[in-house]
Amino acid sequence: MKTEGGSEAAKRRAGERAAEAVEDGMVVGLGTGSTAAYAIEAIGRAVEDGLAVRGIPTSYQSRQLAIEVGIPLTTLEEVDGVDLAIDGADQVAEGDLIKGGGAAHTREKVVDATADRFLVVADPSKLVETLERPVPVEVLPAARPVVADRVRELGGEPELRAAERKDGPVVTDNGNLVLDCAFGELDEPGELATSLSAIPGVLEHGLFVGLADAVYVGTADGVERRTYRAGK
Ligand code: A5P
Repeated sequence: MKTEGGSEAAKRRAGERAAEAVEDGMVVGLGTGSTAAYAIEAIGRAVEDGLAVRGIPTSYQSRQLAIEVGIPLTTLEEVDGVDLAIDGADQVAEGDLIKGGGAAHTREKVVDATADRFLVVADPSKLVETLERPVPVEVLPAARPVVADRVRELGGEPELRAAERKDGPVVTDNGNLVLDCAFGELDEPGELATSLSAIPGVLEHGLFVGLADAVYVGTADGVERRTYRAGK
């Protein structure tokens, strides 16, 4: 359920500009996906030039990339907090997001929501007026049928995410399954987020409502920075 398309140049600009917000001594949340990867690579170059930071990866993928580019890693257990998180999104409406196209949204939400500042990096193909992509919901495997029933009761159509190049379903980094839940246009994403969070067996869903401090949108020739939470 990854989004298709989006210019690599625009993703790169967004990622690299957001990485400029990283300062010496910070603990930084490292998001997942192709746009966040540009930020991780830029942070890696800054570390090579002497910047002292510690990264907290949000997925197997971002951990591997951070190791490759030389970012020292830490965990939530070892730090007092996270100063800044930089992460991508699958759809962006104002400051609200749908994430989880790469099935990493549970750990992403823990890190992004913990951070003092959460910067979203995106290309213009992600921007919409109203969120309407299917919402990824990570579920305990044993709870899948009952969670699917509850999603239907909420008006959604759940579909078990199938793996590519493997028979059967996607299994997340946490050993769980993903239901992509189509609700159509989300006029009240906050209400749906609350309802999904209340279903027993749901680990986390991909609605990130009211969490982003800023969205960096890479454009054809620059970066547009949109801010959402005052004083951050
Ligand atoms: C991972 O599960 C997602 O939340 C990603 O952050 C999202 O899919 C963005 O990825 P791209 O930058 O590759 O589109």
